[in-house]
Amino acid sequence: MRITYCCTDSRPQPWLEGLSRALPDATVELWAPGAPQADYAVVWAPPQQFFDEQVALKAAFNTGAGVDALLKLRLPEGVPIVRLDDAGMSVQMAEYVCHVVIRHFREFDAYEADVAEGRWSFRKPRLRSDWPVGVMGLGVLGERVSRALAQFEFPVKGWSRSPKAVEGVQCFSGDIGSAGFKEFLAASRVLVCLLPLTPETQNILNRDTLAQLQPGGYVINVARGGHLVDEDLLALIDSGHLAGATLDVFRTEPLPAEHPFWSHPKVTVTPHTSARTLRDESIAQIAGKIRALQNGAPITALAGVVDPQKGY
Ligand code: NAP
Ligand code: GLV
Repeated sequence: MRITYCCTDSRPQPWLEGLSRALPDATVELWAPGAPQADYAVVWAPPQQFFDEQVALKAAFNTGAGVDALLKLRLPEGVPIVRLDDAGMSVQMAEYVCHVVIRHFREFDAYEADVAEGRWSFRKPRLRSDWPVGVMGLGVLGERVSRALAQFEFPVKGWSRSPKAVEGVQCFSGDIGSAGFKEFLAASRVLVCLLPLTPETQNILNRDTLAQLQPGGYVINVARGGHLVDEDLLALIDSGHLAGATLDVFRTEPLPAEHPFWSHPKVTVTPHTSARTLRDESIAQIAGKIRALQNGAPITALAGVVDPQKGY
């Protein structure tokens, strides 16, 4: 069995060694143009040439949760794409989002500013009931984040395309433009985006949708930069309808030096780090799935197989 590795954003050697250790019977190689045909691919944002040349793949494993970059390529007919299914990301995402929500709700920025000026001052405690948090996307990451927020007793609202039941979370469903989506937005003050980027969800955080949040709303985008219309967010913050935003993902990454998000006092940016791919967990997951396929399991038995029609 031959495995080819083509990930444009990470040091290959530890991955090659880790995959070889986990699958001792396999030949694991770094892809280069003209490389021999492989049975399985481990990829992140490979060039088009990769898929044009690798025509014998039984499956391609994406080393991230989001497959939007991969699905932009011309993919070989019938080759299943398998994304990471949590692999240590959901707990990181829960940490990140809970941190941001709590930081905003408890006004820690304001306390830090007071302390910097030597001021010992109290703010009136806020009521959780005034801070409903809406989570867009109740998949692997969104569900974990919703449950974590519910543990802190925030009123949590969740929205997904198909109906879901998550303990402690009021779930809404339906497509964009459905009554369920409108009700979800109206019920939310803090909005967390954990949707995959697809043609439907592109630009979903725009003037129209964000204006439907409760006044003083706060936006947390940890999914993809393409979900957010940057100018619409800034206009709603500057008008006072939104209190601010924390953004981990951007249309162009790294965020260009001249982008207004860098210096806006009500916008916090982080460098696409809310949930990182953890190498050991990811290798264990991918190797387990390759072993299962080699032992005759049908592809439908694996978690994380992407539906190309849905785009996630
Ligand atoms: P997932 O398990 O596939 O979940 C996606 C969720 O979004 C599902 O609940 C799905 O609804 C919902 N959804 C998709 N399209 C929808 C639509 N048009 N209308 C309503 N709901 C829709 O994905 P995941 O593993 O949780 O990851 C989510 C995204 O997080 C990834 O695609 C990636 O872009 C992003 N991410 C970011 C980072 C980072 O570091 N910033 C790290 C990892 C992932 P159904 O269940 O009804 O289909
Ligand atoms: C990171 O953004 C991922 O999709 O895993």
